[in-house]
Amino acid sequence: MTGLGIITANQEPKRLAFVTPAVWQKIKANQECMEKGMTDLDRIRLFDEWAKNYDDSVISADDYPFDGYERVLDRIAEIVKPNVKMKVLDLGTGTGNLAKRFIEHRVNVWGVDYSSEMLAEAKKKFPRMKVICADLLGDWMEELGERFDCIVSAYVLHEFDVAAKMDLLQRLAENLLMDRGCFVIGDIAFPTQKALEQVQQSAADRWDEEEYYWVADETLGFCDRIGFQAKYEQLSSCGGVFVIRRRGD
Ligand SMILES: C[S@@+](CC[C@H](N)C(=O)[O-])C[C@H]1O[C@@H](n2cnc3c(N)ncnc32)[C@H](O)[C@@H]1O
Repeated sequence: MTGLGIITANQEPKRLAFVTPAVWQKIKANQECMEKGMTDLDRIRLFDEWAKNYDDSVISADDYPFDGYERVLDRIAEIVKPNVKMKVLDLGTGTGNLAKRFIEHRVNVWGVDYSSEMLAEAKKKFPRMKVICADLLGDWMEELGERFDCIVSAYVLHEFDVAAKMDLLQRLAENLLMDRGCFVIGDIAFPTQKALEQVQQSAADRWDEEEYYWVADETLGFCDRIGFQAKYEQLSSCGGVFVIRRRGD
């Protein structure tokens, strides 16, 4: 995380000479976030507060936004086919519910998350799991010095708009994914915009306008444009799984 407490809502920030373009981009993003009423720190606090009762609120959910939660996590593991020789990275690992599906097969799993309380819950369950406390959109990956057979994630990347999602996948592929490795990503997702709108309508005021849910048909196009091939499977009214790999791998 960069030190972002330096601007307040509704202030047009000025770029000072010593601020690098990367940090500047982050400051601008945070300004937009503040205009929407939520800073990065607010979001981390929200996840920290959720950590203790997170599992009770998602496991066995049968409605938006977590309809089919367990099925989505099971399917990710089924696609990856965990084995003891693998090294897997779990993005936004939370309390470790997805990581568990690999740890029980003695896979070497690393979890990244920016909520220290979520990570503390994961460590309680899986003391030997390796965890990294970092913002996925920050500079953590270049310094990790590890590569992974597979990068997985569940119910996280809808936090980012489509440009940020694609940029993240590209950086991960460049820095952390082994040759022939793949991404397996489960999340709140819909086959088409029309399917999304149907669920939006029935969720009414429970619908979260600040999140960027995946629309599979457009995502497959975006992946293609950046040199990835992707497949998608719908598993519940609002949950699905993408398998994404470099074209030709
Ligand atoms: C809904 S929970 C999902 C947790 C877990 N993957 C699961 O399936 O149960 C979202 C998790 O992503 C983390 N997260 C959200 N945005 C993040 C970011 N920018 N960087 C790192 N972690 C993030 C949150 O702290 C939280 O633990």
